[in-house]
Amino acid sequence: MLSDHELKEIEAEASKYGSRAAVCIDALKIVQRFRGWVDDDMVRAVAQHLGMSPDELDSVATFYNLIFRRPAGRHVILVCDSVSCWIMGYGSVRDYLRSRLGIALGETTADGRFTLLPSACLGACDRAPVMMVDEQLYTNLDAESIDDLLASYT
Ligand code: FES
Repeated sequence: MLSDHELKEIEAEASKYGSRAAVCIDALKIVQRFRGWVDDDMVRAVAQHLGMSPDELDSVATFYNLIFRRPAGRHVILVCDSVSCWIMGYGSVRDYLRSRLGIALGETTADGRFTLLPSACLGACDRAPVMMVDEQLYTNLDAESIDDLLASYT
């Protein structure tokens, strides 16, 4: 069941659109912000609230890679593996993150602090290699800058 806070925020977004279904990604992001991820019950609840079928909403949720359908860490690292980042050192960044965090892509650290995921282009190709932690973009990455930024997340 959606909370009053979630319903209030979803309705505020829905008031900006002509169609209730048009707010579905925003609604999923709102639920995720409150709960950390979007489980099947929440997909059903949001779908019902927006007048969509659960399957229809689930197809949106699973297509959009910033909606987490499984529990995620407190902070989600998206490391860009698209062309510019690949050329500019994605492999080293990925390997350093895997080693530093002790997890593979798609996994969450044992303390629940970080989830590490691959990402398509994050739109900062001229400053590759790039990753995003939660909604903060980090560019021109190297081992030292990764150490510094990881230390800022508890
Ligand atoms: S290719 Fe990595 S930000 Fe565009």
